[in-house]
Parts: sequence; structure tokens; C-alpha cells
Amino acid sequence: MNKKELVFASNNAHKLGEIQQLLGDRFVIKSLRDLGCTEDIPENEATLEGNAQAKARFVHEKYGCDCFADDTGLLVESLDGAPGVYSARYAGPECNSVRNIEKLLKELEGKSNRKAAFKTVIALIQGEEVYFFEGSVKGSIASACLGNDGFGYDPVFIPEGSDLSFAEMSLSEKNKISHRARAVRALVDYLNTD
Ligand code: IMP
Repeated sequence: MNKKELVFASNNAHKLGEIQQLLGDRFVIKSLRDLGCTEDIPENEATLEGNAQAKARFVHEKYGCDCFADDTGLLVESLDGAPGVYSARYAGPECNSVRNIEKLLKELEGKSNRKAAFKTVIALIQGEEVYFFEGSVKGSIASACLGNDGFGYDPVFIPEGSDLSFAEMSLSEKNKISHRARAVRALVDYLNTD
């Protein structure tokens, strides 16, 4: 079988693992590190589409290869869609996942509506064209962290229809329903017809 090589503009080991599992052995994923890039690509745009495209374009221009990038936001209903596109930077300049979650739980204190959704946008740059693929999953925010797997906001996100947070699920369970999995499936459908 001829394997297609795909550059994914990320060095996030969790995302790379999720995406390689979804793509199976028809595709081989190359990370930024495989290209020799260890820089943090700026994510300063006002939309998920803008950030995904900016990351893919950065790599396309610097390394001259077709590639795809993703950007994800957690949209919380009672916070008017926050943290949204600012999910990575929610806790400010010293942000990390623990601090982002702490801030989120604090903002939700006393609120009974804990409905939320994850949304992922993938931008694929092929030649001069940009294509977008989306995926989302509805759920709710737990009142405390649950589970040790996954990354980011996984310990506090309970997808609809489940009693477990994403951080209590195996990678393949998360990949059955997650926002990123849905966006990646749309990407793969496109690549398979390409
Ligand atoms: P980015 O797409 O890497 O910019 O992610 C934006 C923010 O969402 C970061 O804080 C990530 O840790 C978080 N994030 C992205 N994907 C997921 C996921 O699948 N589960 C939980 N948090 C995520």
C-alpha cells in the first residue's frame, strides 16, 4: 500500500497520537519536529479558522510543503462562548492547562448551566488552496477534575451521553466522539477522494 505523507503543523504529542490513530496506516504524519521546527507558532487571530490557517500558512511558507493545522476552542454557554478562541491563553500570560481549568471552574462557581462544546477547525493548505474542516462535540463542565489521561481541558469535559470525562477515557473512546476526531474524519474523507 502506498502511504501518503502528511505534515501536521503541531508538536503536541497528544494531538499527534490522536490524529495518527485516526488516520491509521494509510497516512504517515510528520510533525513540526520532524521538519526541524521547535518554534511556538503564534496564535493571535480572532477566530479558530484564522489561527488554524495562520499555523498552516507559517509552515507552508517556511518549509514549502503542503500541510494541515488545527485550532480548538472550548465554548461554554453560560460564559457567552468563552474561553472560545482564547482557550489556550485563558489564564493569561502564565497560562497552562492547570491554571486554565482553575480559572474556568472559578468562573462557573454558582452557575447551574454548565453546558459546553469543543470545536476544532482544521486548515489544510494544498498548493495555493486552503480547505477547512470542522468538528464539534457537546457536553458539560464537571465541578472538579476527573481522570488523568488526555490533555488540556479533558479532565473537566464530560461529553453528552457519557458519565466519564475525556480524561477518564481511552484514546480510542475519545476518538469515537471527539471534536478533533470529527474534523479529522472530514479531512480524511476529502483526502481519500482527492
Ligand atoms: P490549540 O488548538 O492547541 O490552540 O488548543 C486550544 C486550547 O484548547 C488549549 O488550551 C488546549 O490544551 C485545549 N485543547 C485543544 N484540544 C483539546 C482536547 O482535545 N481536549 C482538551 N483540551 C483541548
